[in-house]
Amino acid sequence: MVKENARKGFKKKVIMIDFNRPHFTGNELRYIQDAVEDKKHISGNGTYTKRCQRFFEERYGFRKCLLTTSCTDALEMAAMLCDIQPGDEVIVPSYTFVSSALAFVRAGAKIVFADSMRRNPNIDAETIESLITPKTKVIVPVHYAGVACDMDKIVGIARCHNLIVVEDAAQSIDSCYKDRSLGTIGHLSAFSFHETKNIISGEGGMLGINDERFIRRAEIIWEKGTNRAEFFRGEVNKYGWCDVGSSFLPSEVVAAFLWAQLEELENIQNKRKQLWDRYYELLEPIAEKGHFTLPDIPDYATNNAHMFYLVCNSLEGRTTLIKYLRENEVQAVFHYLSLHSSPYYQDKHDGRPLPNCDRFADCLVRLPMYYDLEEKDVERICGLIKELCHYVC
Ligand SMILES: Cc1ncc(COP(=O)(O)O)c(C=O)c1O
Repeated sequence: MVKENARKGFKKKVIMIDFNRPHFTGNELRYIQDAVEDKKHISGNGTYTKRCQRFFEERYGFRKCLLTTSCTDALEMAAMLCDIQPGDEVIVPSYTFVSSALAFVRAGAKIVFADSMRRNPNIDAETIESLITPKTKVIVPVHYAGVACDMDKIVGIARCHNLIVVEDAAQSIDSCYKDRSLGTIGHLSAFSFHETKNIISGEGGMLGINDERFIRRAEIIWEKGTNRAEFFRGEVNKYGWCDVGSSFLPSEVVAAFLWAQLEELENIQNKRKQLWDRYYELLEPIAEKGHFTLPDIPDYATNNAHMFYLVCNSLEGRTTLIKYLRENEVQAVFHYLSLHSSPYYQDKHDGRPLPNCDRFADCLVRLPMYYDLEEKDVERICGLIKELCHYVC
């Protein structure tokens, strides 16, 4: 090996920059140990679960939060709470993760896919009204990259047509629409703590409830269709089967892990924003030459630095960029494939073209973004992008 390197001439070993690396704050095992040593309660809805839920309720103003084992589970709970019946229609952007639609499909809904805006991947609120029929029950805005959808417009349409708004806030922790935290605006919302998110618990999620009328039923659905939560609070002297539901709550092991992350929220957010700003600063001059476009953050939205993405001018351009970065030990990845043309849904879709969604599916590329990424890594990545853009011109 050494000989071979000598023959080729000295080549400095470059370390691979992963797309994502989970960040551990250092207190996860301590809190898990604490939860275990409690010796009384390691299943769900214990001390750490309540502590995490209270943190969200007090910091962001949710009426009620319930931890779940994933964002997908939180969306499934939302579909149950919306009382979706076979044939009900749910408006979902096509440029999103499968779960935003799947949770409602499982309950029998027909998904009516909406296009993205031209300027960013969020649902084009201007098109929603034309998708509403007497069967429409729910609108699911997905705040892509933690950047808010146009919520005044969406909530206004929902009010006008008596629809429920379920925010898919999987990526939206600590981000706002105007002065309101994402996830607190719709009737219900779903967050993810999957290891790719800003705050993680391996797998994990949370249902946010902002409309009082859903709270009691949400707790019952959360606890396998029983009123066990009321029993534990001493409000009833026995608990039993009251409704549909499932086992949506995580154990205290997961909640203890999550608490170690939430304690470090500000530090994590500050570091991610620094990295995001550095990317923007270094890539802006290249974007100005027309090689790609940078993330768009409307005036009404804040940036929680969940993701840094570029939109290339073509699929070929994106493929070349991803390949070039891979050859140089940088893992960059594309994101969603259009759900309206997925193998599962294409024959159920009504055939409307959704060109903005398809453009993001073809042209969007996500660059490495995680707490332990260093500024020098961002500089190396941006240097490679600059080099490639220089070649292709
Ligand atoms: C927009 C969106 N919704 C839902 C999910 C599902 O989250 P989870 O993996 O926690 O179920 C994801 C996952 O990344 C997502 O990006």
